[in-house]
Amino acid sequence: MEEGLFITLEGIDGVGKSTQAQLLVEYFTEKGCDVVHTFEPGGTKLGQSIRRMLLDPENQQLAPVTEILLYAADRAQHVAEVIQPALAQGKVVVCERYIDSSVAYQGYGLGLSVDMIAAVNKLATDGLEPNLTICLDAEPETALARVGGDRIEKRALSYYERVRAGFLSIAAQNPQRVIVVSAEGLETEVAQRVQRSVVGRLAQ
Ligand code: TYD
Repeated sequence: MEEGLFITLEGIDGVGKSTQAQLLVEYFTEKGCDVVHTFEPGGTKLGQSIRRMLLDPENQQLAPVTEILLYAADRAQHVAEVIQPALAQGKVVVCERYIDSSVAYQGYGLGLSVDMIAAVNKLATDGLEPNLTICLDAEPETALARVGGDRIEKRALSYYERVRAGFLSIAAQNPQRVIVVSAEGLETEVAQRVQRSVVGRLAQ
């Protein structure tokens, strides 16, 4: 069976993941690769329903463990239906968010056990790990301003600071898989950094 290439993009809200993922997809397409661009939560039809449940402001009372299981259910379906089949066909999969988001947001952000999150996700993904993860990093003030929050609550800010610290600590613990790229500056500059990191790592 052929083996594809699984690349994930991570980072706090507003770091420009979607734009950078799109540019990475264009880069690989120009190189002649067959590329699948996908995302979590919501990369499948079932996942779209789960995404609506997770992001519905009426579901503020979601218990943290429910939240972790819903993200994991979305991911399980996504791996089975989209990611694994594409990789089996030798394709490049560029995915916005994956297990690291659950560890950073629900683990470091909400304080759930990182070991529990790892165990649940191992079950959900059958242990599938990305070949390479680009973690886009920016100050929460800068990133959140981009998603339209001109007046960000102090509580939200400290939450995003914990999530950001989570991503940086995941990167420090997995240097062979995760590369941290600064998301500050112009989109084109960030794109160059991302491309250089990907090309550099794949050449190793
Ligand atoms: P996303 O669609 O990537 O939003 P954005 O484009 O604003 O970054 O993700 C939606 C939200 O879901 C985002 O706030 C991060 C959160 N999330 C988690 O908390 N845990 C997870 O496992 C995933 C995949 C996402």
